[in-house]
Amino acid sequence: MKILAIETSCDETVIALVEARGGLQNPRFKILKNLVASQIKIHQPFGGIVPNLAKREHLRNLPILLNRLIKTNPSKSKIKNPRLPSPNGEVIGGQEKSKIQIKIQKFLKTIDIIAVTVGPGLEPCLWTGINFAKELKAKSSLPLRQGFDEQAKLKAKIIGINHLEGHLYSNWLSQSYETKSRKIEFPAIALIISGGHTILLLIKDLTHWKKLGETRDDAVGEAFDKVARMLKLPYPGGPEIEKLAKLGNSEIEFPKPMLNQKNYDFSFSGLKTSVLYYLKQFNNKTIEQLKPDIAASFQQAAFDVLISKTIRAAKEFSAKGGSAFGGKVKSILISGGVAVNKTLQKQFKREIEKQNLCFIFHAPSFKFCGDNAAMIAAAGYINFLQKKKHQITAQSNLNL
Ligand code: KG4
Ligand code: ZN
Repeated sequence: MKILAIETSCDETVIALVEARGGLQNPRFKILKNLVASQIKIHQPFGGIVPNLAKREHLRNLPILLNRLIKTNPSKSKIKNPRLPSPNGEVIGGQEKSKIQIKIQKFLKTIDIIAVTVGPGLEPCLWTGINFAKELKAKSSLPLRQGFDEQAKLKAKIIGINHLEGHLYSNWLSQSYETKSRKIEFPAIALIISGGHTILLLIKDLTHWKKLGETRDDAVGEAFDKVARMLKLPYPGGPEIEKLAKLGNSEIEFPKPMLNQKNYDFSFSGLKTSVLYYLKQFNNKTIEQLKPDIAASFQQAAFDVLISKTIRAAKEFSAKGGSAFGGKVKSILISGGVAVNKTLQKQFKREIEKQNLCFIFHAPSFKFCGDNAAMIAAAGYINFLQKKKHQITAQSNLNL
């Protein structure tokens, strides 16, 4: 089954074309295209994402990415800026159907599912993706030639996707048709760590899970971005802190919030504030010298909490035999933008080994950790198999 996926929930415009097979027991994905138009440079001067700028860029980038995906070449065409038809079939601007239009339409007729993120995220940004998906669906139903409507029946089906399910299912993307990586086994503990979320899940199988805990304030990625700003590092802060931390040592004792509490919730706002107070003691010159140590110590405090609580959950649900969740926990999965951090991945593996545990540890490959559309396609396939329905409207606060 061929899936066209669109993701515009935040600051990356991403489109992917993915082939999926295997069913719910063994879903496998072949990433045919995964195109990203990053907006980092546009938002960088503001130190964070500006929603209206993000919306403007999504509107501009979506048709460009689609053209690139289909390999139409607008510059060689008579129509410099091919527009999509309105849902009633008229070409906006009244222009004649060009070769490009027909190529796009033919392409759309090969698509089984258009998967689009409906939330959580920035509402104006979500709408750009949703409206684009609706236009494509309308276009897929048009006859290729006037008067010949034998192929006019609707083909592509739109499925609204929860972005967080996308991050969860991104763990299965690296198990593409060709990959021979160790298979994820259930039950699993999944940690989703991104700029907007920090969530710990107990997973029974691909379609059943229980939320064990989440952050009570800032998401871990958000804390990385805020601390980076305090250290005058560019946005996004995660990769900058990771780089800087490699040059320092983690001897500054920042708090490790909720580390010893017997629940699975997190909190990163206090840690961020303690970095702020720490910085207040020093002048700019000293801060400059201390930056690598501050980055390393902040990162370590955050990771100690994430690793400790995740492994504790895996152990606890193994000891209980997983109760209703079908036996001992077998895998630990991490995903989301923060999961790309190599230090975090290494420390997770080291801790599992140190404690002599036999959990399979899995993180998606680099390009599937942060926001991408291949993960939305994976969620589209799994939602389709479950016949799960999401409204095709922006739901900025959608949760798992
Ligand atoms: O999943 P994602 O791309 O978008 C959201 O859904 O939020 O995650 C973005 C977050 C940002 O906060 C960014 O600073 C963080 O992921 N991030 C990192 C690293 N790369 C990105 N955090 C720590 N270390 C990294 N190397
Ligand atoms: Zn995300």
